[in-house]
Amino acid sequence: MKAKYLVWVMFLALTALWVGLGQNALPEGPGRELVLQKCQTCHEIGFVTRERQNRERWDSLITEMQGYGLRLTPEERATILNYLATQLAPGASVPAPTPAQAAAAVSGAAVYNNCIGCHQANGAGIPGVFPPLAGHVPEILAAKGGREWLIQVMLYGLQGAISVKGASYNGLMPAYPQLSDAEIAAVLNHIATQWGNALPTGQSAFTEAEVKAQRGKNLSAQQVLAARGQLGLR
Ligand code: HEC
Ligand code: HEC
Repeated sequence: MKAKYLVWVMFLALTALWVGLGQNALPEGPGRELVLQKCQTCHEIGFVTRERQNRERWDSLITEMQGYGLRLTPEERATILNYLATQLAPGASVPAPTPAQAAAAVSGAAVYNNCIGCHQANGAGIPGVFPPLAGHVPEILAAKGGREWLIQVMLYGLQGAISVKGASYNGLMPAYPQLSDAEIAAVLNHIATQWGNALPTGQSAFTEAEVKAQRGKNLSAQQVLAARGQLGLR
């Protein structure tokens, strides 16, 4: 019950954002509405519309999404699988995305390539040098103000002594003001859901609007460090 309710809340929050962006790129067919309802709470519908897969592959993709927190009844799952396996089968043609849709289809995994050199592909970082993101981002998200603070780390960087899971760090996290709001939201959603990480109960995916709200604060990396102290991280 509760999980269903949360998915619904996430849906409502994000629909407002994505309405009109991706809908037309999904072909008509039974189950289309359900796909729109369920498959764009964590990422744009472009993640779905660009795929052409057979039934078996769609089946395992849905299972993968359930691992990320997608909640479906068995009936809903069957409806969605039928829709995807029929409408987005190999070779199926679909209305070409508009430029706005193409711009919105930002992949968090691609943006994360900027981070791999330090935080590593597996998010484990390098103890004492680069802090881990695996197993750690949810702790930051769970702290009061942690969501906004993560956005500030991306926009303004972080410098100075910190401690993560008992290890000390005193390095420099570069700022990424050159990334778009969509790219920052996408990479944060990526690190919040990879390597066993998950968004805390009740939190939905980062949006461009949230990132935008943190721009223009002109914080220094030291000020971001001071703000970290307010989060009450252990
Ligand atoms: C609870 C969050 C969530 C929901 C809901 C969700 N996904 Fe995903 N999806 C993800 C994450 C996380 C990724 C990986 C993103 C990345 O790597 O940047 C992803 C990636 C994908 C990809 C890209 C291929 C891949 O394996 O990375 C496809 C295709 C996809 N999702 C399809 C779907 C479909 C279809 C639905 C609806 C049935 C759906 N998703 C609903 C979280 C979700
Ligand atoms: C050049 C190396 C480097 C790169 C590239 C880098 N980081 Fe960092 N990151 C660091 C260091 C070092 C710290 C800790 C800073 C300190 O000691 O004050 C850090 C801290 C963080 C933190 C805060 C952790 C905490 O507990 O305070 C997050 C979140 C983070 N990085 C995410 C990212 C993401 C996402 C990217 C890619 C967009 C990225 N980093 C790219 C080096 C890097």
